[in-house]
Amino acid sequence: MATAGKVIKCRAAIAWEPNAPLVIEEIEVAPPQEGEIRIKIVASSLCHTELFHLFEAKNKKGFPTVLGHEGAGVVESVGPGVTDFKPGDKVIPLSIAQCGECRFCKNPKTNLCERSWVNKYVDLMSHPTTRFTCRGQPILQFTGTGTFSEYIVVNQIYVGKIHDDAPLDRVCLLGCGVPTGYGAAVNSAGVTPGSVCAVFGLGAVGLAAVMGCKNAGASRIFAVDINEQKFEKAKVFGATDFLNPKAYNKPIAEVLTEMTNGGVDFSLECVGNTEVSRSALESCVKGWGVSVLVGYTDTDFSAQPVQLMFGKTWKGTLLGGYKVKEIPKLVQDYMTGKIKLDEFITHKMNLEEVNDAINLMKNGQCIRCILNISK
Ligand code: APR
Ligand code: ZN
Ligand code: ZN
Repeated sequence: MATAGKVIKCRAAIAWEPNAPLVIEEIEVAPPQEGEIRIKIVASSLCHTELFHLFEAKNKKGFPTVLGHEGAGVVESVGPGVTDFKPGDKVIPLSIAQCGECRFCKNPKTNLCERSWVNKYVDLMSHPTTRFTCRGQPILQFTGTGTFSEYIVVNQIYVGKIHDDAPLDRVCLLGCGVPTGYGAAVNSAGVTPGSVCAVFGLGAVGLAAVMGCKNAGASRIFAVDINEQKFEKAKVFGATDFLNPKAYNKPIAEVLTEMTNGGVDFSLECVGNTEVSRSALESCVKGWGVSVLVGYTDTDFSAQPVQLMFGKTWKGTLLGGYKVKEIPKLVQDYMTGKIKLDEFITHKMNLEEVNDAINLMKNGQCIRCILNISK
C-alpha cells in the first residue's frame, strides 16, 4: 500500500478532558513497529465504558484520549515480524491480548495474558502507550484501541482475524459488549439447561447476557432494569419475566427470592453499580447460586460474608472469558445465525455525530449506535 511505512494523517474524535464533548481533529498515526499492525477502522460502536471514562470515573487520568473500543476494520500495513496478518485482512482489535505462550494463555480457564496491558495496570481505562499524536502531543488509545480514529496501531496479540465476508458495521459489536455479556452467561456463569437466571441491566451487555442464558437453555430469564423501555428488546433476546426495581417497595433481591422459591441459579450484573452487584448476589439461591460481575466500575463493593458461606459463588469476567482467538468464532456464529447482532443496533451515525451518540446513550435512548469511521 502507498501508505505503508509512512505516518498517516486522519480524522479522530479526541476526548481532551473529562465531562467535555469530543472534538474531531486531524491526528498523525505512526507506522506499525515490531509485531504491530496498522488497521483502517471501518465501523465502531459506542459502549457504556466510554461514558464511564468521560463522566463517571473517579480517576480523571487517561486524557487526552481517542475513545472507542468496539471497532472492526481492515489491515492497512504490518510491522516487522508479523506473519499471521497481511494488508486487506478483516480484523477486530481487542482490549485484551493472547500471546499464546504465557501460563495464562496456556490455561483454558482464563483469558488473561501476561502481556495484556490490563494485567499490569490497575486502571483498566488508561493504556500507557500510543501511536497517536495531535499537534505534537501524544494522544492515548482508550483501552489500548481508540477506534474513534480512521487508523489505529495495535500489537498483533490483541487482534482477531475474521471472515472475509463479515459485515464490519455489525461484527464490530464483537469487540466488547456482546462477547462480554454473552460469555458471562455461557463461560463465566456456566448457565445450565433448565436453570433460572436473572440479568440486571438491559443495555447491550445485559441483552447479550440474556441471549447467552437463552442459548445455554435457561428455562426462565428475569430481565431487571429501572428503564422499562428496555423490556421489549429483552423479550426479543429471550427474557421471560420483567422487573423494574423501582416498582416495588422492598428490595428486588427479596422480590426475586420470593418469585423463584428461594433465589435464581445464576445472576449477572450488567450495570456497573456496586449496589446492583450486591442485589444480584442476594438474588441467588443458597447452596449453588452463581453471581457474575460484568459491568465495570472503580468503586469497592461489599456483601455479608454469610452470603458466600451459604455456598454461593461470586465471580467476575473480562470480555466474557473469551480469548482473542475465540472472537472470530463468534463472527461465524453470527453469520450462521447462532447469535444475534443486528437487534442490538438502534442507531447509525457518522464519526462527526459522535457527541449525539453519547447523548443518546446517556439518556437511555440507544442500545448500540454504530459510527461509520472511515469514508
Ligand atoms: N438497576 C437495574 N438496571 C439499571 C440500574 C439499576 N439500579 N441502573 C442502571 N440500569 C440500567 C440502565 O437503565 C441501562 O439499561 O443498566 C443499563 C446499562 O446499559 P448501557 O448504559 O447501555 O450500558 P452497556 O453498554 O450495556 O454496559 C453495561 O458493562 O462494560 C460495562 O462499562 C460498561 O458498566 C457498563 C456495563
Ligand atoms: Zn499470554
Ligand atoms: Zn465496552
